[in-house]
Amino acid sequence: MTKPRILLIIGGGIAAYKSVELVRLLRKAGYVVRCVLTRAGKQFVTPLTLAALSENKVYTNLFDLKDEVEMGHIQLSREADLVVVAPATADLLAKMAAGIADDLATTLLLATDKPVLAAPAMNVRMWLHAATRRNVATLRGDGVTVMEPDEGEMACGEYGPGRLPEPAAIKAAIDAALADAPAPVALTGPGALAGQPDFAPANRRPLYGRRILITAGPTHEPIDPVRYIANRSSGKQGFAIAAAAAAAGAEVLLVAGPVALPTPPGVIRVDVETAVEMAAEVEAALPVDAAIMVAAVADWRAADTAAQKIKKDGSGQVPPLALAENPDILASIAQSAQRPPLLIGFAAETNDVIAHAQAKLARKGCDWIVANDVAADPMGGESNRVHIVSKAGVDSWDRLPKQAVARQLMEKIADELDTRAPLERD
Ligand code: C5P
Repeated sequence: MTKPRILLIIGGGIAAYKSVELVRLLRKAGYVVRCVLTRAGKQFVTPLTLAALSENKVYTNLFDLKDEVEMGHIQLSREADLVVVAPATADLLAKMAAGIADDLATTLLLATDKPVLAAPAMNVRMWLHAATRRNVATLRGDGVTVMEPDEGEMACGEYGPGRLPEPAAIKAAIDAALADAPAPVALTGPGALAGQPDFAPANRRPLYGRRILITAGPTHEPIDPVRYIANRSSGKQGFAIAAAAAAAGAEVLLVAGPVALPTPPGVIRVDVETAVEMAAEVEAALPVDAAIMVAAVADWRAADTAAQKIKKDGSGQVPPLALAENPDILASIAQSAQRPPLLIGFAAETNDVIAHAQAKLARKGCDWIVANDVAADPMGGESNRVHIVSKAGVDSWDRLPKQAVARQLMEKIADELDTRAPLERD
């Protein structure tokens, strides 16, 4: 089993010395660590110290051509299982939030498709400044895990939040972040002989080279400019599936209805409101190797959307609400010329779960139905009890957190796709 690989970016700040201890802790726990030191970071710790402790080459310069030959910055940014920024200075957080790539560290952060964890360290006023608050909110919205800094006396004598969390706390956050990612893939074959046995090439990920389309969340069907028809779908299961697919190396397109969830790292997301918009985005995304339709698409929309807010007229009469049927996205892509080789639907059922799912499998023309029993725990919860219903039979799983359902589903999908050739690309 390959050991988890951490790319540790060390920013400039007095707290950088704690990152040296972090490297030691990570190595002790068996992690493979590769360090990148910013120019400011070099003022506080030396590449030699980090190289000795990490037992790995330390990278500092984007324009080191020899390294570009040995290992391009794109590869460097993606071969790790997790990218950690510690200390994350106010400047680094601002550049990350703005997508600025003007040195090796920021270029890696923009190029990576892996989860990112940032451990901030800065003066209390800088941490509390509106600009930093905004940057942290942006990064969290983008799916970056930004730890809360510790509170205490600062090197500059002020008191408050801004101290780098203790190395043991950062390591605990790293353990937790990696527990959410799929286990590193064991290295076999030519990559194992390439002189970097601890760093699996990207194509060792089980879904590398596959394109996966996922729909998630509810749809909102407008009645007038202020009212809509909706349902209680939270989008959590679909987003967890998108995160797991990206972590397994797939190119993931997530078509999301209106939900308040951050985009998982490495996922391309398109937001839609209505079923008709979702259908158009799904069609535009084809061809794909697999489509997983998790969205709770509204069955009906208002037949006519009023241009102005519908008013009470005082007569006590309720306005008529005529409905029109929405397109069945799953059923129509099952019929399309570009039907994905693996097409998966979801079904939320309160009774006769498996029988209903089997009927739905036939009606929709998909390959699997992931049936979830929502009798005990309706939409919006953190766990799911699912049965994967296919022509081959029924695979019933225990109740699991939605992230675990997602990971297990990716394993099943990877096994299934292993029997099929990847799509032809232009
Ligand atoms: O018919 P029902 O809504 O129970 O089917 C659920 C499955 O069908 C889900 O995979 C859902 O994403 C998909 N669906 C769809 N378009 C619709 C209704 C459902 O793609 N209009």
